[in-house]
Amino acid sequence: MSRFLPFPIFPRQASTLAPRIDHLLYYLLGMSGLMTVLIAGLILYFSIRYRRRPGNERATQVHGSNRLEIAWSVVPLGIFLFTYVWGASIYFWAYTPPMDSLEIYGVGKQWMWKFQHLSGQREINELHVPVARPVKVLLTSQDVIHSFSVPDFRVKQDAVPGRYTEAWFEATLPGTYHLFCAEYCGTLHSQMIGSVVAMEPAAFEQWLAGGATASPAERGQKLFQSLGCNTCHRADALARGPDLTGLFGRQVHLQGGTVLKADEAYIRQSILDPAAQVVQGYEPIMPTFKGLVTEEGILDLIEYIKAGS
Ligand code: CUA
Repeated sequence: MSRFLPFPIFPRQASTLAPRIDHLLYYLLGMSGLMTVLIAGLILYFSIRYRRRPGNERATQVHGSNRLEIAWSVVPLGIFLFTYVWGASIYFWAYTPPMDSLEIYGVGKQWMWKFQHLSGQREINELHVPVARPVKVLLTSQDVIHSFSVPDFRVKQDAVPGRYTEAWFEATLPGTYHLFCAEYCGTLHSQMIGSVVAMEPAAFEQWLAGGATASPAERGQKLFQSLGCNTCHRADALARGPDLTGLFGRQVHLQGGTVLKADEAYIRQSILDPAAQVVQGYEPIMPTFKGLVTEEGILDLIEYIKAGS
């Protein structure tokens, strides 16, 4: 596999996605180049071949040729469908994180990237990942839309306030790679940059073990108590809200008969806008925690609930 593209202006190929994207790009460039040369060449050739000459002053009208018309409809259709299927298969592959991905949380805010490893390590404008292992970054934003972009990995995903998006990649080469914000997000957008450090798995484990503070689940547990969540969400008779043990990934029955799966987005909404999705058999008495808990606090709470599931 080529590590560098033929021209130094192209980014490095440092993920499993990179060669796939590049092959499609080469093909598109090749097809466009071929058509450009073909059309320009024919224009040139015909304008000389059929130029006005004594004895051939006026063009003769030519009427349709079914064979030619069918050919120039069917051949491009085939080419476009081929391109579509190829592109779509890469798209689905690139936006479907493998089940066994290493999960990392990423929060964009004006103007920095914050990352949170599940074991506790936190980073700003730097993201350490292992090579040869799929990594899933669960993204959100604390203010406006940002975009997580690592050109050497051919990865780009928006970080949108109020929802979670996923980016995944598998780095193939140890090294340090540029991380950009690829969505204009205000004055210092151009300085919302950082680096992704891809390390050999052993070195990564070592890095992960060094200087780890409390894990998100542990911080989430503290937050769960300090916000008083545990006074209602409990397993005994005093419970005024559903017990959250085993909640994550489970089916939830809501008032009105809706059934949904308890995922990150559901938990986040239940914290910020509890009245929107009230669980069957409970009163809509939970107050909103909007403004009382940060996006990172919400991630900690989610991890705490996940840990109890
Ligand atoms: Cu964040 Cu541009």
